[in-house]
Amino acid sequence: MREADLEAVLAIERQSFPEEPWTRGMFQRELQIPFATSMVARDTRADGAIVGYVCWRCLGDELEILNLAVAPTARKGGLGCALVALVVEEAKTRGAAKIHLEVRDDNEAAIFLYRRCEFFPAGLRRHYYGRDHHAVLMSWSAGNLDRTNADVDKQTTSD
Ligand SMILES: CC(C)(COP(=O)(O)OP(=O)(O)OC[C@H]1O[C@@H](n2cnc3c(N)ncnc32)[C@H](O)[C@@H]1OP(=O)(O)O)[C@@H](O)C(=O)NCCC(=O)NCCS
Repeated sequence: MREADLEAVLAIERQSFPEEPWTRGMFQRELQIPFATSMVARDTRADGAIVGYVCWRCLGDELEILNLAVAPTARKGGLGCALVALVVEEAKTRGAAKIHLEVRDDNEAAIFLYRRCEFFPAGLRRHYYGRDHHAVLMSWSAGNLDRTNADVDKQTTSD
């Protein structure tokens, strides 16, 4: 993501989080922080128009996803999963053990998406998004991956 992308990013942000969208300043901050990364997805069939983005930070051996959105017209086509998969690949490359994020407890689409990408609920932060709006803390860990592989191995052995 670059400064020049922010107009398109902000349009998706406002459609995705109408109640409390990130501001231009919040995205600019992510572009300046050395341990923060923000990536955009472009539709190569539509002149490279921005159709999604993910912002994350890496601190020590942990990553945190701070923002993720896909343009409404581009949803349900696997892009959200692909953006999360990019962050998971980055964690593996860096040898990071965990990825965390917070998601509103009523955001079914996002919770399904993260579960699909091997993130598991790790706690509840009550009233995190304001009164009666709780956050589910979800995390991916390299350990989950080992366990998944071990389960697959076990199944293969017993077959
Ligand atoms: C959440 C979001 C990023 C998903 O993006 P997407 O590109 O539509 O996601 P994908 O197409 O990769 O879907 C992956 C999985 O997510 C789940 N999913 C996606 N949209 C869903 C919906 N509306 N309802 C239920 N599950 C949904 C499904 O399990 C899906 O897997 P499947 O297609 O095999 O069933 C998108 O809906 C979005 O931008 N929402 C607004 C912003 C937001 O909530 N961001 C997350 C904040 S933490």
